[in-house]
Amino acid sequence: MSRRRLLAGIAVLGTTSLLPRSALAAPNGLSPKIDALIAKMTLEEKIGQLTLYPDEVRPTPRPINPDINAQAEARDRARFQYAEIRAGRVGALLAGTGVALGRDLQKAALESRLGIPLMFGADVVHGLRTIFPLPIALAASFEPALAEQTARAAAQEMSAVGVHWTYAPMIDVARDQRWGRVAEGSGEDPYLTARFAEAYVRGFQGDDLTSPRSVASCPKHFAGYGGVLGGMEYNATDLSERELRQTHLPPFKAAFNAGAITTMAAFNDIDGVPASGNAKLLTGILRDEWKFPGFVVSDAGSAEELVAHGVAADEAEAAALALNAGVDMNMGGGLYKRHLPALVASGKVPMAHVDEAVRRVLLVKERLGLFDDPFRSLDPKREAREVRTPAALALARSAATRSVVLLKNEGNVLPLRKDARVALIGPLGDDPANMDGTWAPWAKTGEAVTLAQGLRAALPADRLRVVKGSDIHTALPGGIDAAVAAAREADIVILAIGEGQDMSGEARSRVEITVPHAQQALADAVAATGRPVVVVLGTGRALALHGAVRDASAIVVGWFLGSAGGLALADVLTGKAAPSGRLPVSFPQDSGQQPFYYNHKSTGRPQAPGEAAFFKARYVEVSNEALYPFGFGLGYASVTYGEPTLSSAALPWDGSIEATVEVRNTGTRPVEEVVQLYIRDMAASVTRPVRELKGFRKVTLAPGEAQRIRFTIARKDLTFVGSDLTWQAEAGAFDLWIAPSSAAGRPVRFMLGKA
Ligand code: BGC
Repeated sequence: MSRRRLLAGIAVLGTTSLLPRSALAAPNGLSPKIDALIAKMTLEEKIGQLTLYPDEVRPTPRPINPDINAQAEARDRARFQYAEIRAGRVGALLAGTGVALGRDLQKAALESRLGIPLMFGADVVHGLRTIFPLPIALAASFEPALAEQTARAAAQEMSAVGVHWTYAPMIDVARDQRWGRVAEGSGEDPYLTARFAEAYVRGFQGDDLTSPRSVASCPKHFAGYGGVLGGMEYNATDLSERELRQTHLPPFKAAFNAGAITTMAAFNDIDGVPASGNAKLLTGILRDEWKFPGFVVSDAGSAEELVAHGVAADEAEAAALALNAGVDMNMGGGLYKRHLPALVASGKVPMAHVDEAVRRVLLVKERLGLFDDPFRSLDPKREAREVRTPAALALARSAATRSVVLLKNEGNVLPLRKDARVALIGPLGDDPANMDGTWAPWAKTGEAVTLAQGLRAALPADRLRVVKGSDIHTALPGGIDAAVAAAREADIVILAIGEGQDMSGEARSRVEITVPHAQQALADAVAATGRPVVVVLGTGRALALHGAVRDASAIVVGWFLGSAGGLALADVLTGKAAPSGRLPVSFPQDSGQQPFYYNHKSTGRPQAPGEAAFFKARYVEVSNEALYPFGFGLGYASVTYGEPTLSSAALPWDGSIEATVEVRNTGTRPVEEVVQLYIRDMAASVTRPVRELKGFRKVTLAPGEAQRIRFTIARKDLTFVGSDLTWQAEAGAFDLWIAPSSAAGRPVRFMLGKA
């Protein structure tokens, strides 16, 4: 047995305690059935199992990717694909949905010599037909349990149309808001992202992976993609291994601990080695250190791209590099099919590596129960009954409501007064094509409820006027005049503006993270009427707000909230529900501050808030403080925080202390408060962030109610990646905040004692 193969065995054995019991079909993860199957397979059949093609029989209603399927130049792509499947040359398909044709495809796979079933994968990131809030929005709920519920509902829905495997969650920590894929993740903080990562995985995979209502999860993109330089999509990164381990890997570790059984190699390089050819990452860290038992799929074409990266001279070298590094399955146009036969013949790719990759893929198929029931999740009755169910739509509405963030509410203009005449102005007010957000290729335009529809259902007909005023990027003839006239006749203006849903997501990096000019002009003109303005921002990232948008009476971050978005926004605006979201990304003063995040380093010349000194770490034009910081958000009642108290100012090396704070609702309405715990290591052997989130609780407070909120702190909460690249804590002083945001509160100090 080769060393790698042996290691794989140990890896599987070593990980059993981390996985939900149901994730393991065979008690030790090593299946004799699979070994016997591999022994019968030809090299061509093995390569087939390592090959994932776009589904040519059931293409997506809207294209989601550049065409990566170079092998299918044939005029009749569908017929060609059936033939390839029958020949045992395809292991999995990407992005196809639909039970009838799914069954035909599966039948074709069963007709192949060994009858190995296909696995159907799809990017169901925030819902299939019932669209849940964009992940960045859901992160604002600060309720990982909600992500678990929406992922479970999405798993039920996607498995009703034949999907076995979702390319989700996206858990890249994103600190540069120019990067469009901020939208798909849980924001700038590794701790928050990790809590959401594990929750999504639990939701997708459920308690029993063999259940036809569960799907395999594929946390992505492994790893460091959020570090692309300048926030430019597909760019290189310049991450130290320490930074990689400290910031970008923890969400993945959390996802694997929760049982995720596949992962996707990222497009970017890390310290000069592209992730999709990075043995240190895919074998050293993932297999040897973490004992990950599942398989790694490349991103779309990311193995082929090793040539463009300049680390492989040609496609054959790219294939060898990728497979030997640990990319088990190729998502793309048949790279492995074209090159592995010669590479194995020449010994550049040992057969043992191929076998190991095949074993990992087949184990996942086995754990999904596909060998026992190849037609699992391919039930026409379920397809008819379990898509866009009332229960899923109700969950979409409550999740959306809980993702809304209220940033400003001068004069308590919100909730709307019952008798107010409302002018709803802006291109996002009544546009069903701009409700869902980036990953919704299966959603049908018109199915999502707009804000206008939501308000119409909530307000008397004669109280609401709806005027578009402008397109997303361009002015409309007479648009501003009509908007200004409507504003004048109203008591209050709701300005639904921001990004179009195609302005964030993959390949959607921006230079200026602002409201497009045409809409800014609309906002400025409407505000000049003097009517109070409530801005409702559609966005997939933090924005830099200017002029009348920044100065509005109220600002509501509405993100892209999905199928029930308009109902949820109307619930919040009218006060039927109270806003309870908090920012998972910092809103800067200006675009040029990116990357901009709360958990930055102190530097040798930190500028104190309000300090005017010149030779400090700062920009000349704007203050360093966030316009709205990470963790910030308002409810419809005010909450006061007492001073945090510690059970002891001395934390013993192997002990714990408790930090407690009293929070009180001083308003007249119920409120939900997100109580946040931050720490700072005051002096360590490497520089540490000025604050780091270490815990949070979302609590409900009745009017006048006070609650004491308690957090336990132990050494494990104080660890960091040291110069030797291991996680460690160092004795000494720590500051601790329990506060309503990353920029609020006064610290208390404690000392971690020596070992
Ligand atoms: C994206 C992945 C996605 C894949 C398949 C790629 O371009 O980076 O996130 O899962 O396409 O659609």
